[in-house]
Amino acid sequence: MRTRRIGDVEVSAIGLGGMPMSIEGRPDEARSVATIHAALDAGVTLIDTADAYHLYAGEVGHNESLIAKALASYAGDTDRVLVATKGGHLRPGDGSWTVDGSPQHLREACEASLKRLGMESIGLYQFHRPDPRVPYAESVGTLVELLDEGKIRMAGISNADPQQIRQAKEVLGGRLVSVQNQFSPRFRSSEPELDLCTELGIAFLPWSPLGGIGRAGDLGSGFTAFAEVAKAHGCSPQRVCLAWLLAKSPVVVPIPGASRPETIRDSATAPDLELSAEELARLDAAR
Ligand SMILES: NC(=O)c1ccc[n+]([C@@H]2O[C@H](COP(=O)([O-])OP(=O)(O)OC[C@H]3O[C@@H](n4cnc5c(N)ncnc54)[C@H](OP(=O)(O)O)[C@@H]3O)[C@@H](O)[C@H]2O)c1
Repeated sequence: MRTRRIGDVEVSAIGLGGMPMSIEGRPDEARSVATIHAALDAGVTLIDTADAYHLYAGEVGHNESLIAKALASYAGDTDRVLVATKGGHLRPGDGSWTVDGSPQHLREACEASLKRLGMESIGLYQFHRPDPRVPYAESVGTLVELLDEGKIRMAGISNADPQQIRQAKEVLGGRLVSVQNQFSPRFRSSEPELDLCTELGIAFLPWSPLGGIGRAGDLGSGFTAFAEVAKAHGCSPQRVCLAWLLAKSPVVVPIPGASRPETIRDSATAPDLELSAEELARLDAAR
């Protein structure tokens, strides 16, 4: 698989998003482990997760534990796999999502993620979502401390606007390596953040790159240009979508979610799909 960079780490150009394996509609554990193993077999070396990817109140970190288990039982080498997790989002167990960006919570969350992942240091730790009750610099400042203490190797942010990206970069003293925002054919309002990441040389990880769980399968019917380009190449509209995202900027590293081996296998082939300038312009214009 072709590679891209997050900070000083080389990662596969397509990562695996872990969320569909742990929230509503999740599969059984055996299928999830098979999905993660299929990703590794396909050359994926970036797995995105979060402590908040769980369903019930008493199982915070369900997805992190699953990933740790799948990595431990993988027959091949996992040394080069970067697990990117997040803190600052919570799921009380009633289906809702809440935020807590306080330094105390982020510290406790990071410690708990470290234990679940069975690591001495988290490869990439991302502040999941700004908390309006906590000054942004305070939340990001906790990442500085965690970096300095060696609890995390790299720091990223998620769901940030351009001003927050600049602020995080300043607070982190240039050690901000990634921004994870929503971006897909359906949701394009993070163009300014993507442009800023390109300018600053910071990795941009589009989340829900295929339109999100429950919508991703229908990508081609909602956006017919993706289906038409896919037909011309004899591949899936989802593969076209990921290749289109990769072509947007060298800092882009999409993290499509999967709960089945087939889907991540297909997504992992996207970096090999070359789209012409004309096709890219057509996909850009498809709304
Ligand atoms: N930072 C944040 O706030 C935030 C928010 C949401 C998500 N995320 C992250 O971003 C990741 C991706 O987002 P997402 O999972 O919400 O949405 P997504 O990647 O747009 O869609 C996920 C769905 O796409 C299907 N899929 C994947 N590859 C496919 C292919 N090649 N062909 C057909 N279907 C395919 C999967 O189906 P199957 O389930 O059938 O395999 C999966 O359920 C998440 O897993 C999570 O790690 C972050």
